[in-house]
This record gives sequence, C-alpha cells and structure tokens, in this order.
Amino acid sequence: MAQHEKFHYKSAEELIAKAKELGITLPWSDSIEGLLKPTTIAGVQVPNRLTVQPMEGFDADNAGLPGQLAYRRYGRYAAGGSGMIWLEACSVVPDGRSNPFQLMINPENVREYKKFTDHIRQTAMDVFGADHRPFLVLQLTHSGRYSKPYDGYQTKIFSNNPILELPGEHSFYTDAEIDEIKAAYIRAVGLAEEAGFDAVDVKACHGYLLHELLYAYDRTDSQYGGSFENRTRFLRDVLRTPSKIIKAVRLNSVDMIPWPHGFGMKPDGTQTIDLTEVKKLIAEFSQWVPLWNISAGIPRYNAFVGRPFDRGVFGATPPEEHPLTGIDRLIRVTADLQQTFPDLNFVGTGYSWLRQFYPQVGAGVVGQGKASFIGLGRSSFAYPDAPKDLMEKGSLNPKKVCVACSRCTEFMRLVVPSGCAIRDYPYTEKGRRENK
Ligand SMILES: Cc1cc2nc3c(=O)[nH]c(=O)nc-3n(C[C@H](O)[C@H](O)[C@H](O)COP(=O)(O)O)c2cc1C
Repeated sequence: MAQHEKFHYKSAEELIAKAKELGITLPWSDSIEGLLKPTTIAGVQVPNRLTVQPMEGFDADNAGLPGQLAYRRYGRYAAGGSGMIWLEACSVVPDGRSNPFQLMINPENVREYKKFTDHIRQTAMDVFGADHRPFLVLQLTHSGRYSKPYDGYQTKIFSNNPILELPGEHSFYTDAEIDEIKAAYIRAVGLAEEAGFDAVDVKACHGYLLHELLYAYDRTDSQYGGSFENRTRFLRDVLRTPSKIIKAVRLNSVDMIPWPHGFGMKPDGTQTIDLTEVKKLIAEFSQWVPLWNISAGIPRYNAFVGRPFDRGVFGATPPEEHPLTGIDRLIRVTADLQQTFPDLNFVGTGYSWLRQFYPQVGAGVVGQGKASFIGLGRSSFAYPDAPKDLMEKGSLNPKKVCVACSRCTEFMRLVVPSGCAIRDYPYTEKGRRENK
C-alpha cells in the first residue's frame, strides 16, 4: 500500500508523475472551458459545472435559522460564481440535529428560509448579472446515531454496527419512530419548495440515519432493514412523493467498511467495492431523481475515504493510503455511475486536496463524461471565489487554495462555528479571539 504523503507538488507535471507512479491516470484537461459551460437539470438552467458541496457551519440560531455567519458564508459562495450551491445539512426535526447549531426547517420558520434563498440569488445577480442564477439545493438530514441536539441526549441507533459502535448504551429506533421521521421528511420536501430552493436532497451518506438504513443488513425485524426493498423503503417513500421541486440524493457509493456493516461493498466481507446495490437503487429511483451527489466513507471512522487530507483531525495518525488513491477511487466510482446512467447528473466529490490543479482534473472529468459537476467542499470555505477567478483569469491563485489541514473538521468536533482557519479571517486564531 502506498504511503500517505502531504501535497508538495510544484507543477502539474510533478502531480501527474506522482499519480502515474501510483498507477493512476488522472483525468486532465489543460483547457478549463468545460467547467464554465452552462447546462440544465430537469429543465432548470445551471450557469456552470462548479458546485459548492454541503458544508455545515455550526452557526444556526435557536430556531434553526441561518445566522449572521451563514449569511456571510452563502453570500461569499454566491459572489464567488459557483453554478450550484448545495446547502449544508438541515435537520427535519429537533432531535435529529447533529449539534444545537445545525440548520432546521419547519412550518414556523420556512418564511425566513425564503428570505435566505432570495438573498443568495440576489447576491449572485448583483455580481454576475440577471442571467447568472445559481441552482440551490437544500440538504435534508436526520443525524441518526450521530444526533446530539443537546447535552445529555440519549443516542439511538437503527442497526448494530461493531465497526461504528458508539460508547455507552443505546436503544434502537422502532418502526413507528422511523415512520414519524419519514413524515417529517415528506413535510420538509414541501417546505424546501416553499422556501424557493430548486432542488431538495434526501441525504443518504456519511453514516447518518438514511445511510444507516442502507447498510442495515442485519436488522431483520423491521420493515426498514434486512432486504434491499426494506432498506431502501424510506428513501423510496420520500422520493416518490409528488411535488414540483427537483429531487436529489447525496449518496454514499462505497463505505470502505466490509459487508455486512458497510454499503457498496462485495458481500464477502472483504474491502472490495461492489456497486451492484448502488446501481439498483439509482436505476429504480432515477424516475424521480435527476441529480445525484456521490460521496464515500464515514467521516468519523475513515474520513480519508471521502475527504483526502494532508493532516488528520487533531493530528491523528495518517492513513496508509496516498490522498491521490482516495481521489482516484472517488473519481472512478462516480465515473462508473455517470457512465451507467448518462442521462442523470452526477456531482463528483473530493477535489479540494488537489489545490490549484483541481480545475484541470475537474475539466478532464467533465470532458470525459465521468461527472456532470465538480463539487468543492473545504475549498469553498477557503476560496469561495475560485469560480470567479477561473472565469476572469483562467487559473487559481495557489495562495488562496485549501491546504487540507482538517481544521474545519476540528471546529465541528469542538462544536464551534466552522470555516477556513487559514484563509478566512473570522476563523483564524486571531479572528476567533476577537469574536469571542
Ligand atoms: C467542516 C465540514 C462540514 C461538512 N458538512 C457536510 C454536510 O453538511 N453535508 C454533507 O453531505 N457533507 C458535509 N461535509 C463533506 C463535504 O461536503 C465534502 O464531501 C468533503 O469535504 C470532501 O470534499 P472536499 O475534498 O472538496 O473537501 C462536510 C465536510 C467538512 C470538512
């Protein structure tokens, strides 16, 4: 297995040579024009192929509404020129929040969310003109086993998972409780439409509740566990609800946790990827869902799978995997899905580690039909106006890129507002001291 390595490549040639040494052919295009081309999703125009990935800011108010920092963050994304802005995890019920500062949508606060979408669109229009209307997606969530809406909350799980086991005792969700959560999701789909979003994401990734259902192979006493039909029942029931808003799913394609405790894995207990169930799910739900955002891994268990980094959270021992291997896995899995379902729109993940070279890799990916959109997570915290620089200058400024230091994830773990500790003043040590 290749050694983990920090990013130290001074040129495209050095980066490509390293990939080659690892047996990886990085998709590449010297022209980044393909990233700036508009397209449509279910008839709605999207100004370009660059997507802000959902990134929790831990800064909502008591009512679950975006606070001042969130307005600032999304204003920066809008003014930065991304064609699609995929808003962060927004809980459908108070108990499903991962932390007390998570966004939450309900009938009481939906009007405020409408003001928020208006603000984001207006900010983009002020900078780029009336023709530039970013496509806005709201990510709905229930944090399942990772819910921590307040101190002392008793965590529940849906299925046993010895690999992801949490400390302490916990009880199991009953089917009646899952039915109630499902009703809240169906309500929230309607609320997302009322709030002016173009699409709503029924999030099924990163170990949260709907992803937990997908790998609940051993929960055979529930209508939501065991068989494929049962494990996908929740998603099916939410996605098939008639409503005008475009449906999307952020999906864990591969967990890199052996079956029967991980999804997207060969049912032989090895670390082998097997997309059979993933493709079956997409094939069935494609009648309702034109937009898929492909992720992988569980952040609290194997974060390197979904977000390749230089430095692990709180300086954790680096994985025995080169970041380029992780990026290659994400690109290949997404490409397999995009090429199996060429009429659907797939957003790719995990590009931030590539620094100033992600546009060339992303343009290669889009140009070769391996994804329709290139998603940027940590890079959007660090360099929200990267798309604008690409439009105006054709390249990125190496001094503005994300350095994959995991400080933004550390902020999450510390339950404080999250952002880029290196490039964005309010989140630097000095900025944070001033704001205390
Ligand atoms: C601080 C932080 C918050 C995140 N919040 C979310 C979230 O709300 N929803 C989600 O699906 N993924 C979330 N992610 C994962 C990112 O969307 C993205 O998949 C990941 O960072 C890899 O992309 P990147 O290499 O461009 O950063 C988060 C990641 C970080 C570091």
